[in-house]
Amino acid sequence: MTTLETLPTAHARIPMGELGDIGETPRLTSLRTDDGRDAALLLEWEDGATGRFPLGWLRDHCACEACRHPVTRERLYRPLTPVTDIPEARRVDGHLALTWADGHPSRFDAGWLYRRRPGQAADTVIPARRPWAADYAPERIAHADFTGSVAGERAWLEALLRDGLVLLEAGPLADEEVSRLAERIGPLRPTNFGARFDVRSKPNPNNAAYTAIALALHTDLPNWRQPPDIQLLYCLENDAEGGESIFADGFAAAEALRAESPEAFRLLAETPIDFRFQDEEQDIGTRAPILSLDPDGALLEVRFNNWIRDTLRLPSYLIEAWYAAYRRFWRLLHAPEQQLDFALAPGQMVAFDNRRVLHGRRAFDPSTGRRHLQGTYLDLDMCESRLRVLAREAR
Ligand code: OGA
Ligand code: ZN
Ligand code: ZN
Repeated sequence: MTTLETLPTAHARIPMGELGDIGETPRLTSLRTDDGRDAALLLEWEDGATGRFPLGWLRDHCACEACRHPVTRERLYRPLTPVTDIPEARRVDGHLALTWADGHPSRFDAGWLYRRRPGQAADTVIPARRPWAADYAPERIAHADFTGSVAGERAWLEALLRDGLVLLEAGPLADEEVSRLAERIGPLRPTNFGARFDVRSKPNPNNAAYTAIALALHTDLPNWRQPPDIQLLYCLENDAEGGESIFADGFAAAEALRAESPEAFRLLAETPIDFRFQDEEQDIGTRAPILSLDPDGALLEVRFNNWIRDTLRLPSYLIEAWYAAYRRFWRLLHAPEQQLDFALAPGQMVAFDNRRVLHGRRAFDPSTGRRHLQGTYLDLDMCESRLRVLAREAR
């Protein structure tokens, strides 16, 4: 039989994919087997916490060099045969040591198991989404703190993921600063408007944003199968009359719709409609509902952009009901108590979750002064990744 002393040190290493462990954990105090419906080990820690770990799960999570690649730490083990034989199990120095029926040894850190007790929340680094309350005001982070300290960048990312919006302030009036800031987090997400775009009134616009007209609350690029997640808009000039920014928490408004009119909510969630953008070079369209939900009915995404809604192709009997639901949602979104309203100052950058928070602007008068924003997009995965990496550094 393999004894613990002969195990390679990699046995004690935490798999790369499982990093993120922090803090003290109570000692493992007892272990016994439970062969209820499926064979499992019952573990108990000194704080009274218990966990029931099915054998197949334990075998699948072995971190030895045969089961995890020693360099990438990715899984090599394939869970293709049911695990039914109870392994020999011992507690050794804060570890759980198992020897499986075929002689394969596995070793688990008791704290690692403690944090993965079935039913425990998975990720403590990524903040949960918090709907905007009536007195919501955006978190403001100074440019110097964002670029000069881990705490500043973390605070910015946390606010963005939690509230779906965050403001950066007192930045330089420098061309491409938005790209430099975004690239700290991840690669820019390119679209048909480029990886980085200029928002100003242009002579031959291919998009409402490049005029001086008002933009009602909208999400960008709902005509893409996968619209960009995070939008950054960096203000370089804003001297024209008008042009104030408006924002609304689309998830909060959708929840208000669900409470006020479940039927209207259901219609917007269950009825795909067409979105389409066309110019000289492109014709980009997709069909999707205004509200997307997960299997539990929780909101995943809002697609809302009145000027690139395409022909409404629905069965005739649904059309008036769909418009009525759309109007209700529109009114809730634009209700003054739902809306955030402020003028971006040069050197400020707003970042928001384009699949949750809607944005817009008031009309401006280009004859009274200049207005110039630079924008780009980022993937949410990169924002979450950056936050996890920064949290790792802070330990
Ligand atoms: C955009 C947009 C808002 C603004 O470029 O997508 O909505 O304030 N711009 O000009
Ligand atoms: Zn193994
Ligand atoms: Zn927009």
